[in-house]
Amino acid sequence: GLNISSLLKQTGLVTYDVGFVNTAACKSDITFIDGDQGILRYRGYPIDQLAQQSTFVEVAYLLIYGKLPSSDELKRFDDLIRRHTMLHEDLRAFFNGFPRDAHPMPVLSSAVSALGTFYQDSLDPFDQDQVEISTVRLLAKLPTIAAYAHKKSVGQPFMYPDNSLGLVENFLRMTFGMPAEPYELDPVVVKALDQLFILHADHEQNCSTSTVRLVGSAHANMFNSISAGIHALSGPLHGGANQAVLEMLGQLHQSGEDPKKFMERVKNKEAGVRLMGFGHRVYKNYDPRAALVKKSADEVLEKLGANDPLLDIAKQLEEVALADDYFVERRLYPNVDFYTGLIYKAMGFESKMFTVLFAIGRLPGWIAQWREMMTDSETKIGRPRQIYTGEAERDYVPLDNR
Ligand code: ACO
Repeated sequence: GLNISSLLKQTGLVTYDVGFVNTAACKSDITFIDGDQGILRYRGYPIDQLAQQSTFVEVAYLLIYGKLPSSDELKRFDDLIRRHTMLHEDLRAFFNGFPRDAHPMPVLSSAVSALGTFYQDSLDPFDQDQVEISTVRLLAKLPTIAAYAHKKSVGQPFMYPDNSLGLVENFLRMTFGMPAEPYELDPVVVKALDQLFILHADHEQNCSTSTVRLVGSAHANMFNSISAGIHALSGPLHGGANQAVLEMLGQLHQSGEDPKKFMERVKNKEAGVRLMGFGHRVYKNYDPRAALVKKSADEVLEKLGANDPLLDIAKQLEEVALADDYFVERRLYPNVDFYTGLIYKAMGFESKMFTVLFAIGRLPGWIAQWREMMTDSETKIGRPRQIYTGEAERDYVPLDNR
């Protein structure tokens, strides 16, 4: 059949597509997005049905294995994850090497990369058993690593995982609990966090997932590929936006600046001023995840009795944006992270942890995409072309003659 990429290769033609706005780098069965209609589906299932009826661990299974699990399959998967939550004591010691005020994202990424040095028996990307155990280890240990990174930053003792608890419950206890003190789980918080993880679980070829695929395309192991993805996620134009939104709302609150005036500065493209949490490369309509998060923000803040003035500011900004030509013409709507920070804050997370929460949620997607790529016979090492714009050939000038 006609294969455009091999045809282009023969002709020597190169497509110039900055930011890969129109270039598909792979085929995928995992996630479907229709950005114009605001549709998102994992393996065919609409995101709102999964967010309302499923659980994060079940969604992880769905993304990775392509089907909803039977109750036996789900129990086995959940048991496996519970069994692998512990970190090796030597890896625990690793956290002490970082400065106390370290941002938890690089700590997370370093620890994930370090996992590969502890599990040298499971690094072969083409050995199915090794891929399975790496999958479970990553899913089980990332929440422990995340909680340790948090404990380190607040100077509190680490909490060992309690495997009688599910993934979300365990993570909350390791983050907010203290040794030898009972920790009471709030079902409202558990449910809301589980739902937020579902909403973040995959989003096809976004920046961090493309990073995971690109690194993996060189046959780098799963730990290293995902560690690279965590770094990509940390940027404020990607996962780092959830922290940036809250900082923006906090500054507006503190300075008392009229949201309308602030929006004028955004529209005038004043240096460094962007409406964080707005706009998306693919969604040119309301992000379906943002709609669910906005609803959840109202519910969770009310149930937790958290009357946050920042929520009002966020709503005012949204209201201004939805009625303003600048935003309407550019089809800029709230994305998933416009309201998430407010929920995380009400749950007690410090803003530095917000992007870490995104990473825990996105992990099943990264794993599913990495595995799909590794088993796809069409996969090649990722290696974009360029348009060279530098000097033509010129002769070297010895140092004395310059
Ligand atoms: N505030 C103000 N103007 C914006 C914003 C924004 N948040 N987003 C886009 N625009 C404007 C751009 O200035 C540009 O205007 P122009 O046509 O006059 O030059 C136009 O809208 C198109 O924007 P691009 O930057 O070309 O869109 P792109 O697809 O490259 O960027 C991105 C998408 C990075 C998400 C962008 O909208 C942005 O920076 N948003 C804020 C950061 C953010 O919330 N990121 C999270 C993304 S979702 C996620 O990772 C979970």
